[in-house]
Amino acid sequence: MKIKILMVCLGNICRSPLAEGILKSKLDPNKFIVSSSGTSNYHIGGSPDQRSIQVAQKYNIDITDQKAAQFIASDFDTYDLIYAMDNSNYQNILKLAKKDQDKTKVKLILNELYPNDNLDVPDPYYGGAQGFEDVFQMLDKACDMIVTQFKEHH
Ligand code: 4NP
Repeated sequence: MKIKILMVCLGNICRSPLAEGILKSKLDPNKFIVSSSGTSNYHIGGSPDQRSIQVAQKYNIDITDQKAAQFIASDFDTYDLIYAMDNSNYQNILKLAKKDQDKTKVKLILNELYPNDNLDVPDPYYGGAQGFEDVFQMLDKACDMIVTQFKEHH
């Protein structure tokens, strides 16, 4: 059975598409499924933001085929691990949990780098290209940590 990991932000067009693309690029597709979604319905069916596409391309990651989806309660059954990009989305994911086991699957992604600090990946949507570069760098480091932990435990 493949391990299934879901990256979640608000719109599923800026941060979580990058998190999906970055983590996928570091893991064996025969062993892991990585996907992403958003807690809002704002952009369902839409492509990632051009600025996310561009910063990913700069690091040889292609996210152009992704399409935005909304996080739904059944994702708790589908996925083994759910990474929220920020505290607001973390809380909104937990609101859809039906049992305690659902809640234990949800983590704040930057806690991989800074345990228990509960830091947000800042929403880059209303900013410029540098915000997307910053988001890329923090997600790249967080994904390295996720991969390291899988190597230690599996
Ligand atoms: P994301 O960024 O949650 O990283 O995809 C956003 C994208 C769109 C909006 C907000 C955040 N929006 O309000 O449309």
